[in-house]
Amino acid sequence: MERPLIAIFNGPNLNMLGLRQPEVYGRTTLDDVEQLCAQAAERLDVGIDFRQTNAEGELVSWIHECREMARGIIINPAAFTHTSIALLDALLAVDLPVIEVHISNIHRREAFRHISYVSKAAVGVICGLGVQGYTLALQAMTDIIMNEETQ
Ligand code: DQA
Repeated sequence: MERPLIAIFNGPNLNMLGLRQPEVYGRTTLDDVEQLCAQAAERLDVGIDFRQTNAEGELVSWIHECREMARGIIINPAAFTHTSIALLDALLAVDLPVIEVHISNIHRREAFRHISYVSKAAVGVICGLGVQGYTLALQAMTDIIMNEETQ
């Protein structure tokens, strides 16, 4: 049987991971995160499509693509988390399980980061656990997909 595909999408400035505010986000680069996810996916026997963009519209289009190609979406929408109704609407439109990930604990930070528009579309949110949040999300998403299959 074909492996289920899980999309892992990253929003603006996450291409700067490792260089950007290391005291908040650590020194791991986005390439390292992709590697960690690829290794976890191998263990879990799922496929991943790992991408990053700085453009909101591109993220919206990628989410639409998932309707046909993916079984679930893991997304770190970065700053769009706190601003984008378009992203929320796109996630609601595709009707797939969504897990929202943040590297930092957004609730310990500035008040404007405490609001997430995206959470309304998410089955769960992982924040504050560093880049490990991505692999935890992959594990959780795999469980969700497996449960769908046994129902
Ligand atoms: C972030 C938190 C956001 O508030 C911020 O805009 C980011 C990264 C995180 O992963 O901790 O760019 O999503």
